[in-house]
Amino acid sequence: MSVGHLHGGRMEVAGDPPSRRLGPVQPGRPQPVLAGGPSTVPAAELRDAAVEVGGRVIWSGLDLTVVPGELVAVMGPNGAGKSTLVKVLLGLIPLSAGEARVLGRPPGKANQQIGYLPQRRSFDPGLRIRGVDVVRLGLDGDRWGAPLPLLARLSGRRRAQDARIGQVLRLVGAAGYADRPIGRVSGGEQQRLLIAQALVREPALMLLDEPLDSLDLPNQASVAALIHRISRRENVTVVMVAHDVNPILHYLDRVVYIAAGGAAAGTPDEVITTATLSRLYGTPVEVLRSMDGRLVVVGGPQAPALHSDRHAVGTSAGTGAR
Ligand SMILES: Nc1ncnc2c1ncn2[C@@H]1O[C@H](COP(=O)(O)OP(=O)(O)OP(=O)(O)O)[C@@H](O)[C@H]1O
Ligand SMILES: [Mg+2]
Repeated sequence: MSVGHLHGGRMEVAGDPPSRRLGPVQPGRPQPVLAGGPSTVPAAELRDAAVEVGGRVIWSGLDLTVVPGELVAVMGPNGAGKSTLVKVLLGLIPLSAGEARVLGRPPGKANQQIGYLPQRRSFDPGLRIRGVDVVRLGLDGDRWGAPLPLLARLSGRRRAQDARIGQVLRLVGAAGYADRPIGRVSGGEQQRLLIAQALVREPALMLLDEPLDSLDLPNQASVAALIHRISRRENVTVVMVAHDVNPILHYLDRVVYIAAGGAAAGTPDEVITTATLSRLYGTPVEVLRSMDGRLVVVGGPQAPALHSDRHAVGTSAGTGAR
């Protein structure tokens, strides 16, 4: 593979031996991940990671360290393997090469501390379940956590849960419509309720797969601002798949850009550049900055103009992630 990787501000060229290796795992407790590295346990760490689905390599050579508290975007065109990366972090898809650690543990072992928003959610307009009940599922009914025992439901735990649900509903601005059926609120309102569901358990890490999907531009901006506010107020690390970097550009600490079977990770200034994306795509790609500060990617096989689909207005100022 001829793709370079940005790692810690230094460009790593594929084929180089990984400069650092993950330390040994001791089950049951978070471990400092890097041998001889910093004492803070990274929220997620991948070293020279590759993944195969259906016998095909989706991406390889991915090096990434997510520092606790960071807001990280995963970007790239359709089918590049963004959701696959999220599923790797959840332990749902194994790596075919390399190493991964999530919250200091092997992927899948720390899912109780992860809030997950899957891609492409939709609710039937006839669905009677209320928004507040959808949020509650994040606490006691979903597939990521064990149901609470009956006695606990009847005790003060239930009141504590109600208080927490009220808190997150206020935080996401959904208190006013949380009692309505989820199928009868707008897409943006559903998105806020689902973010509340992912947040309600007080996760250390939130994995949000396209949380801005299907939102109009004002809603993209306000949900992006909400996610940033959550990451700061609740001290939660956020890894989010994004189609367009612009709504989140000012909030991002790090970007992982996946394309053409390779990946580059680093700050937005390191990754979303003509040089890095051209190298990643293996063809000339130009990153332009418009007068209002928005980034536009032009040229190459994945130019935004070729991907103007369900984000008809926003795509022209996107970064080629579709
Ligand atoms: N179960 C599967 N079997 C075979 N191939 C799969 C399977 N799941 C996903 N893939 C393929 O893996 C590749 C990466 O899929 P993934 O869903 O991670 O892409 P993505 O970057 O999230 O795309 P999108 O922007 O459309 O959401 C795609 O080519 C997809 O077709
Ligand atoms: Mg996806």
